[in-house]
Amino acid sequence: MGSRKEASIQQFLQLLESKMAEEGRRMCMRPVQLLALATMAVHLVVASSYQIENSPVITQAECSDGGRFTFPKPMLTADFYNHSCPEATTQISNYIKKLVKNDSSLPAAFIRLQFHDCFVRGCDASVLLHSIPGNESELEGIPNKNSLRGLHLVDQLKAELEDICPGVVSCADLIALMARDSLQAIGGPSYRVLLGRRDGMISLKDEANSLPSPFQNYSALLHSFSSLGFDSKEMAVLSGAHSIGFSHCRFIAGRLYNFSRQVGAFDPTLDPEYAHRMRKRCPPDRSDVFFAMDPSGKHPGRTFDSSYFRNLLRNRGAFTSDSTLTSTPEGRAHVLEMASPQNTVFFEAFGKAMEKMGELGVMTGAEGEVRKRCTIRNGF
Ligand code: HEM
Repeated sequence: MGSRKEASIQQFLQLLESKMAEEGRRMCMRPVQLLALATMAVHLVVASSYQIENSPVITQAECSDGGRFTFPKPMLTADFYNHSCPEATTQISNYIKKLVKNDSSLPAAFIRLQFHDCFVRGCDASVLLHSIPGNESELEGIPNKNSLRGLHLVDQLKAELEDICPGVVSCADLIALMARDSLQAIGGPSYRVLLGRRDGMISLKDEANSLPSPFQNYSALLHSFSSLGFDSKEMAVLSGAHSIGFSHCRFIAGRLYNFSRQVGAFDPTLDPEYAHRMRKRCPPDRSDVFFAMDPSGKHPGRTFDSSYFRNLLRNRGAFTSDSTLTSTPEGRAHVLEMASPQNTVFFEAFGKAMEKMGELGVMTGAEGEVRKRCTIRNGF
């Protein structure tokens, strides 16, 4: 942005700041006024969308009685980059289309990346931060290490965005858009992605270890999902992401060989035909081979549809955490509902659940920062 334009926006913001402080003082004594809220909204939108360093975004005003009035946190919006980087969303979707044309396994990588980002400290791109001396980041956590894919592609796309609009598009928004656009590119549902997330400054290995594990049962999984505000239906629906993607054999090996320490046994809750097929795909000593978690269809692992749920009903879920979804009457009812071959029921529910997941614990306004590189905090 030109420095004259920047200076005048700075001036405008300073004027607003003093007006807001004044309004804040008044609001402590009278009911909230529309004018004050409008002023605040303009202020926050302008300040955050132009990404002015040290912009005077204020979140509290002093009351004349000595108390403090806290302005509500700005919300995500559909048109967040319309002024600050109008090309951003088109650039991202074009880039993703090209990537997915070359490699249709990528949507799975990006959807999972968003899940692992949002379930740990909210959707703040903390999952992308590299470890620094004295701090091991989420990437070192068991669910992420040697497991997440496509991370370098986030960096590449971020670098392209930095060329057109430096310091504007957050890595957290980028993750959300890459997930949605890539899923759409393979014929999955489209859903609304509101924007304006800010990037976090903290990333801790131990927190990533609290992500759900493939060896967990229904109640442990539900505990994990409900602690973040998801009900059992949303848990089943989101698990439907396993309709695409690939897993290392190590996550299913314990169900295929010497199950419960019984020599030669496989998990009796698995369909025997599926278990035998999986044994061929995943020989005992090959824990690092990949398999498509949903083997159905013409392009296993690359077709997003409701067949995941039909597989569960035939005892063909890959992980314990998949199979367990049909282990309670409540879970089974959700799976049955989603299993409809038309896809529409699943697609609609999945879109809604992804919207909700994408808004978990987001930071907005002046919170956090917009990283210049997704792997490292600014100033490091
Ligand atoms: C219910 C709890 C869940 C557990 C225990 C779980 C566990 C796993 C595991 C172990 C893998 C294989 C990783 C590897 O081999 O390196 C995987 C892959 C995957 N998960 Fe989940 N997951 C869960 C829920 C979800 C949710 C909610 C989503 C997204 C909304 C998701 C999306 C994916 C995708 C797309 C893949 C394939 C990734 C790829 O191909 O790179 N998972 N999951």
